[in-house]
Amino acid sequence: MNSKILVWDFPTRTFHWLLALSFTGAFVTGDSERYRDINLLLGYILLGLIGFRLIWGIVGTRYARFISFLFAPRAIAGYVRSMFQGKPQHYAGHNPAGSVAIFLLLGLGLLSSLSGLASYNEIGGEWLEELHELSANTMLAVVIVHIAGVFVSSFLHRENLARAMITGAKPGEPAEGIQHRHVWLGLLLLAAVLAMGYAYLYKDWAPPGLTPLSQQPVATEKRKQDD
Ligand code: HEM
Repeated sequence: MNSKILVWDFPTRTFHWLLALSFTGAFVTGDSERYRDINLLLGYILLGLIGFRLIWGIVGTRYARFISFLFAPRAIAGYVRSMFQGKPQHYAGHNPAGSVAIFLLLGLGLLSSLSGLASYNEIGGEWLEELHELSANTMLAVVIVHIAGVFVSSFLHRENLARAMITGAKPGEPAEGIQHRHVWLGLLLLAAVLAMGYAYLYKDWAPPGLTPLSQQPVATEKRKQDD
């Protein structure tokens, strides 16, 4: 098992790091009135990313497909047992324990972004705001467990899983590797996110619930001063 094989295609890696950045950004701006719009914009980006991942989980490459990491409770228990025995079973894609965190992260990401966007657009009441806060806080807890799990698994398997999420490559049997990186699709995903930020910052565009920059009090005040 010394050869490196391609496990994570480019769209999955791009999705992962964009999701990590947008969740972190949305979480740290969540309590601030000043950064409300950034929080909301990142919520839209998060929702778009998860929407993309739900489709890619059906039509994507071998290890990106949900079916490849949908494990029965017995398999999850067996994997955890093998970890405690110091002989963890090796999986080319997501391992059974990690997959639980991944489904939770996707579900909580969906719930927190939808409840947040609905609250900002004044749909629903206080309970929706509370649901938003609860789902975001729970997601943070799962992210911490997820990162700890990545380090523990990396140690137990003597492989750098975080690096694999950057390069896409892991040690494995050549027959287990995927054939295509789909770089174009990852770049398209990145371009869509950048385009959204660009349109908001420079083209005076804003999605529902957000005020275009030119109509914000600071901009209006500045225009008055310039006149
Ligand atoms: C806010 C932070 C993060 C979130 C929301 C997050 C979320 C996720 C999700 C949803 C997946 C599944 C990827 C997929 O199949 O689409 C995943 C996998 C993964 N993440 Fe993260 N992640 C975060 C931070 C990190 C960090 C900081 C690291 C590195 C230390 C990391 C390393 C990994 C690795 C290695 C995998 C693949 C796990 C495996 O080998 O089975 N993640 N993450």
